[in-house]
Amino acid sequence: MAELILGQTLAFTADPFAHGPEAARHEAKGAILVEDGRIADLGPADRLRAAHPQAKVTDCGSALLSAGFIDAHAHYPQTAMIASWGKRLIDWLMSYTFPEEMRFSDPAYAATIARRYFDLTLSYGTTTVCSFGTIHPDSVEAYFTEARARGLRALTGKTCMDRDTAPEGLRDTARSAYDDSKRLLEKWHGVDRLSYVITPRFSPTSTPEQLAALGALWAEHPDCLMQTHLSEQTDEVAWVKSLYPEARDYLDTYEKFGLLGPGGLYGHAIHLEPREIERLKEVDASLIHCPTSNTFIGSGIFDMGGLTAAGHRVGLATDTGGGSSFSMLRTMAAAYELAQLRHRALHPAELWWLATQGSARALRLDDRIGNLAPGMEADIIALDLASTPAIAQASARAETVWQALFPTIMMGDDRAVKAVWVGGRKVGAPA
Ligand code: GUN
Ligand code: ZN
Repeated sequence: MAELILGQTLAFTADPFAHGPEAARHEAKGAILVEDGRIADLGPADRLRAAHPQAKVTDCGSALLSAGFIDAHAHYPQTAMIASWGKRLIDWLMSYTFPEEMRFSDPAYAATIARRYFDLTLSYGTTTVCSFGTIHPDSVEAYFTEARARGLRALTGKTCMDRDTAPEGLRDTARSAYDDSKRLLEKWHGVDRLSYVITPRFSPTSTPEQLAALGALWAEHPDCLMQTHLSEQTDEVAWVKSLYPEARDYLDTYEKFGLLGPGGLYGHAIHLEPREIERLKEVDASLIHCPTSNTFIGSGIFDMGGLTAAGHRVGLATDTGGGSSFSMLRTMAAAYELAQLRHRALHPAELWWLATQGSARALRLDDRIGNLAPGMEADIIALDLASTPAIAQASARAETVWQALFPTIMMGDDRAVKAVWVGGRKVGAPA
């Protein structure tokens, strides 16, 4: 049966980085008609109520209805070691990340963490995540199995590492990485709402042979995305230079092996050379900004203002567990603060767009998710814009929707999330 959800609605008709805040459409008394897992209609509550008298009405009062958040880069296997103290990237990987990822050799552990992960992300209003797995194919099985059972649109891939820079026990080979990735891709890509993503971790943990094998796999499956890391820390950039002395720069280590293309997702992209910036723009690759991670691991300040002005395709992400939060609200706040350090105040419309349609666009799924519009998949969240006393007293003075929204962006967490619909079905409601 059709469901009519009432509340304030926030949608986008265009990219606010290009068209300003007018690219957003706010309806103070709005409604969304959901039918067969999709948004069938959107508009003023009065019009929709009159047009659809048979629909079951769910009144969310003054809650803000938005597309669910989209986290364009995360490591679900790092759920349990989030907020580990005191290291920078390379030491952090060796001390905390790799030992935790080794535990995924146990499929039961992978299943436990996948379940926990989606409980957490949904509680924060995130309805799609593009995650890395571990080297273990079972980490992908666990993630897809759990996402599918919940009806989620979800993306992941087996993380590939075959170089001796990665520890014993957490290495595959060029051959097995190709074979396992191909098998998982053929099994899962396009099943229900799932997408397989070809996933070399990053140049320092792969041999040229492995990068080439994954480049070949991508060429055979150009409809798949490819995700990796790029220029997150200066020590890492120097490491890449020493491992690939013949490469022009970090990006060249991917390009050489067929791992640069329009479906490429490059996490972090902070310490870029002018050539890399130009090349990434030329191929229309996606840059994924991970602000809580960039401060937590001490990586640097992504050039949001410069890169968006130059027309780069940018998504927003938690980078859990390098990132210090599962929340895209917290992630928007960190993006705001980092951009401020570069003297660019991101408008709430820009932040909201990044966490929804911008990330969907980065994942090349913006025709299906990330916005409220007829035909889009009904992944919807209802947010209380006065979820804590501190937020309530700040938003009470608001004269515009942006003033009402910004305290929740800066101070909100899972307490703001009142309801979540996944594919038109309310999470937690009986099937
Ligand atoms: N670079 C390579 N692997 C990782 C990872 O797991 N997290 C982060 N933040 N950076 C990486
Ligand atoms: Zn990452």
